[in-house]
Amino acid sequence: MLHRSLAGKAGLCAIALSLPLLPAPPANPHTTKAQALLQRMTLEEKIGQLSQIGGINFIPDALTPEQRVRLGQAGSILWLSDPAAINKLQRVAVEETRLHIPLIFGLDVIHGFKTIFPIPLAMAASWDPALIEKVQSTAAREARASGIHWTFAPMVDITRDPRWGRMIEGAGEDPFLGSAIARAQVRGFQGSDLSSPDRVLACAKHFAGYGAADGGRDYDSSYIPEDQMWNVYLPPFHAALQAGAGTFMSAYMDLNDVPGTANRFLLQTVLRKTWGFQGFVVSDANSVGDLTTHGFARDKRDAAYRALTAGVNMDMASRTYLDHLGELVKQRRLPVSVIDNAVLPILAAKYQLGLFEHPYADEALARQIVGAADHAKVAREAAVRSAVLLRNERQLLPLDKRAGRSIAVIGPLADSQRDLYSMWASFSGDFTKVTTVAQAIRAKLGAGARVESAPGVELRKIYPSMFDRMFGGPPKSAWTPEQADTEFKKAVDLASRSDVVVLVMGELSAMNGESASQTTLDLPGRQLELMQAVAATGKFVVLVLINGRPLDISWAAGHIPAILEAWHPGQEGGNAVADLLFGDAAPGGKLPFTWPRSAGQIPLYYAHNLTHQPDSAKDFGSRYWDSPSSPLYPFGYGLGYTRFAISNLRVRAAQVPVGGKVEVTVDVENTGSRAGEEVVQLYIHQQAGAASRPVRQLKGFARVSLQPGEKKTLPFSLGNDELTYWSAEQKKWIVEAENFDVWAGADSNATLHSTFRLIPPAAR
Ligand code: BGC
Repeated sequence: MLHRSLAGKAGLCAIALSLPLLPAPPANPHTTKAQALLQRMTLEEKIGQLSQIGGINFIPDALTPEQRVRLGQAGSILWLSDPAAINKLQRVAVEETRLHIPLIFGLDVIHGFKTIFPIPLAMAASWDPALIEKVQSTAAREARASGIHWTFAPMVDITRDPRWGRMIEGAGEDPFLGSAIARAQVRGFQGSDLSSPDRVLACAKHFAGYGAADGGRDYDSSYIPEDQMWNVYLPPFHAALQAGAGTFMSAYMDLNDVPGTANRFLLQTVLRKTWGFQGFVVSDANSVGDLTTHGFARDKRDAAYRALTAGVNMDMASRTYLDHLGELVKQRRLPVSVIDNAVLPILAAKYQLGLFEHPYADEALARQIVGAADHAKVAREAAVRSAVLLRNERQLLPLDKRAGRSIAVIGPLADSQRDLYSMWASFSGDFTKVTTVAQAIRAKLGAGARVESAPGVELRKIYPSMFDRMFGGPPKSAWTPEQADTEFKKAVDLASRSDVVVLVMGELSAMNGESASQTTLDLPGRQLELMQAVAATGKFVVLVLINGRPLDISWAAGHIPAILEAWHPGQEGGNAVADLLFGDAAPGGKLPFTWPRSAGQIPLYYAHNLTHQPDSAKDFGSRYWDSPSSPLYPFGYGLGYTRFAISNLRVRAAQVPVGGKVEVTVDVENTGSRAGEEVVQLYIHQQAGAASRPVRQLKGFARVSLQPGEKKTLPFSLGNDELTYWSAEQKKWIVEAENFDVWAGADSNATLHSTFRLIPPAAR
């Protein structure tokens, strides 16, 4: 009551009328200690804890980070990765501030700290949560040893528009797969004890709906209806929370006209009230200050007020809390209890991380751990298991190591180190350690083979972003038209005098990531022309794709006999590609998204609803007149070097009461002559109900490894979690007594079919 009338006096009446106070976290040993510490803190010290400042001068500031820390104006530091620099600042916090409260150091450890793993989208293509957990625990080990306590990952935003550059950071289009991967990442980062020297606090981001940006333009508004929000965009966040994610990051964009950083529906109604989140929320970089730029907050003071009262505990980098919260409290516009409730989970996290006992990084240990040889092995395994074989006509792959005496590795990415990485890796990784695809093939084949490479074409962005200046290295001067023709011809000539051509094409890493959206899915530059010229030589051609989104490879899909999707595969990507091409490893990854034929089909996702004229209607379907509606490759698709038979789909009981479990089994057998791995996928469709339900929804998957002739029976269980959905009409989660289809297979086009029926409990 008190705060309402005070806020009313301040002219903030409209906001304050329904001002929700942040709920106090329940008592546990960490919050009890945090509570005791809070009692001793001044208002300024509390506001300092709510502020995260840059450890590098990325955002201009009159004071150095050290001065800010000494003044108690920082609870956390971002963008530092050097243990010595981290310790130096930590020493100021611990030794020179009144209450000796340690800093939390946060960094984007998205797909590795020093050892760089495949981009998250690629890791999702492994459909292997155990591997993903191992990868993120390896990243956590390196980061924590270096003094990083908190990673701004996992990004669990569902993406159904591949024009959006940040698709690379997520797990693709599907909430079920996305949730499994979100859980694995949180487990990998946090483990079971955050105070152990190899774990970091996770941050589920960007809450929520960032992946649905209008037109795929980064930062643009998202408009997401209620049923899509609950059924598609929110589940991976909930999964991250249930796995224990200690923090969330608010999103930049407007969700249904309210910026994520002041969105009380998201931060209060969903996160705290419905899900009972007890950790803390950090804003995205500068997003508190940017509430004014959005045309949402009147001024910075209003921005600070709105973000804090919506539920953003920590202001990342904008210093808006530092500059304005004190004034709001002193003028009695904001009750100090709101500040206290915001500070408490931050202090509790510091206790939980064990920072009061062990604030410093052990620099000697960091030197031993960071970039250790066994970490590179994990990176190679991850790159191998992430790769997706899209085409393999006449079993061209794997190549015989002895047969190819001369191999041409052609394309702008054939010998690129930087593009095997991606943007966020640049904070701490060292791309000069990368073995390129050409180098790796050369190393694998040894002196007996001639392996030459040629770029053929060059790739450039028309509108570079701030990140290109930060991470892209010094700008290269463009080839002149004459040079371009010479290089093109050189590459085609090389192809003509070689036995096998490996084309390495796709995107510069700078073509995706933050602030890197695009209008088309075309292969950038003159790559298609080069591919066609090389194919015209009549040689065996394999296409290796290095990219972070589906590209329009329709021509290649009909003309290039073997296509391997390798993504931006990280530091061991070159070696992994060589292992896969020459049969030292077998591909087993599957697409975590639907691969469109062209940008004109976007959005295209497998879990769409039926229409009154489904595509199956011969000449009256819901389709284009100039292109099939079907994708180039379906969600869940990927080939291997052997064959699998998936059969014998059995539903244990054809009728199961609502609330019970539908038990399903299916057999998978390796019918080929090589060992291999298959991802068996289970899809359902609810035939009728209170809402139209998607034609198919993934509800189970298992990646299995089988020797030739080996057969396994896989069990799946469909319970409330799998059968429930949010009804926008009834405003609740419902499970309905209806008929269901169930399919099992190797991708979302699976044809092995059965049915079951949920019946009302009383009819049992
Ligand atoms: C990104 C976040 C990231 C933050 C800190 C922002 O620009 O949107 O995902 O965690 O910067 O680097």
